[in-house]
Amino acid sequence: MTAVQLACLRAGGPVLRFDAARHGDGRPAAMPVLANLFGTPERVAAGMGLALDEVPAFGAFLAALRSPPPVDGMRDALSRWPLLKAALATRPRVLPRGPAQEVAAGADLTRLPVQTPWPGDAGPLITWPVVVTRPHGSEAAQTGRYNLGVYRAQVLGPDRLILRWLAHRGGAAHARGWAAAGEPMPVAVVLGADPATLLSAALPLPETVSELSFSGVLRGSRTEVAPARSVPLMVPAHAEIVIEGWVHPGETAPEGPFGDHTGYYNAVEPFPVMRVSAITERRDPLYLTTVTGRPPDEPAVIGEVFNTLALPLIRAQIPELRDLWLPPAACSYRIAVVQIAKRYPGQARRVMLALWGMLAQFSYTKMIVVVDEDIDPRDWDDVAWAMSTRMDPARDVVVLDGTPMDYLDFASPRAGLAGKLGIDATTKIGAETEREWGRVMALDPAHEARAAEILARHLPGSGAGQARADDPRRLRRAETAGPASV
Ligand SMILES: Cc1cc2nc3c(=O)[nH]c(=O)nc-3n(C[C@H](O)[C@H](O)[C@H](O)COP(=O)(O)O)c2cc1C
Repeated sequence: MTAVQLACLRAGGPVLRFDAARHGDGRPAAMPVLANLFGTPERVAAGMGLALDEVPAFGAFLAALRSPPPVDGMRDALSRWPLLKAALATRPRVLPRGPAQEVAAGADLTRLPVQTPWPGDAGPLITWPVVVTRPHGSEAAQTGRYNLGVYRAQVLGPDRLILRWLAHRGGAAHARGWAAAGEPMPVAVVLGADPATLLSAALPLPETVSELSFSGVLRGSRTEVAPARSVPLMVPAHAEIVIEGWVHPGETAPEGPFGDHTGYYNAVEPFPVMRVSAITERRDPLYLTTVTGRPPDEPAVIGEVFNTLALPLIRAQIPELRDLWLPPAACSYRIAVVQIAKRYPGQARRVMLALWGMLAQFSYTKMIVVVDEDIDPRDWDDVAWAMSTRMDPARDVVVLDGTPMDYLDFASPRAGLAGKLGIDATTKIGAETEREWGRVMALDPAHEARAAEILARHLPGSGAGQARADDPRRLRRAETAGPASV
């Protein structure tokens, strides 16, 4: 199943439904298994109710929601009504009971068709769970204080799971609060939540933003929740399956090894155990799974769309930032290429430090390359050209030591502490250089247009007519389009 999922994802293929999955011991699965749900950027956008080309505008809308410009009179206030309406629509609606609770399915996890994704994995792994928690001292009705996160869960036995929230996640913070009070924490592991809830849980939202409210913004209608059957929590009403239970202070078990999104097996580490008190499901549930591995995997596809979505929010903090690319091949966050409108000396360094220092989501970004506006940060050929012509290794490289890093990065010498590398590949201005700087070559646009006409006439259908004569990338693509007879 892992091989089929990855091959399908790489081919840009559809959502997969396995109707005849079997457990390792040969038992037929009790329900169909769904995979590759968000296997293309178009489907990730659709999960937010958008076409792919609408994602940037939605990102701008979110940035405005977060810090709306001051209202200028009544007319202006009214013109913002759709914005207000969207924000108000986000309060979850409480139903007495949800479709996810049609069947009380006992408390036996071994009934669920949980995949063991990679050879050598420690056991069955729930790969797409939405883990619902609330802080100690809160009430079940205070859904605005809930955290939803996707944290993989190893099945230990019929009624025990390991929840692998990394230390900086919302779920881990809640667990610390309950443990400090010496009380067990109620938890719900929601499987097959609706797309808006799944994506909200996967987004690194600030602690002050509730994923349940945010999923309402994505969906365009209020999130519906219902009281869990055996724990004091509200759960998404329209999920496929809900696993309810408790995490007791100090109870952990060694988790893994499992293949991870880095392309390596993780080290075995202790993580909290959840004791299952009840499982509820729909009458005909689907079991949602995914596979994490060396990119591209499904989380990398999701990350690509989130990159576009987050850009306006990041630009609100760092206005000179034009574009930012987190290459999926670099595990979606370990390398960033940043395009800036450079105006003053030292600005590239300021932007690097701002990304690392102001924005928590970049604390695990090992390397930042800063480029000018004429360089496409999403094109490695462009970035390589900028680094090889605008960067001096002795002058333009920033190396930091002893900065935070995820423990998954075994290349860093100490677990959790690592270096950072910044490369300033921008044009050097002012006091940054004393030498005459090179001038970028360019052809007369009229000559280029004429060349395109000539090529279109002599190489019809090859695509060469669209090539700009001075653009080596496009010419190369035209060459590979097939032989032409002139
Ligand atoms: C399929 C998938 C699996 C993930 N697995 C984990 C995991 O095992 N542990 C973890 O801490 N984060 C994992 N993440 C990332 C978090 O879900 C994500 O960063 C989320 O924003 C965390 O929410 P929080 O900020 O509310 O804690 C996973 C994400 C996806 C999409």
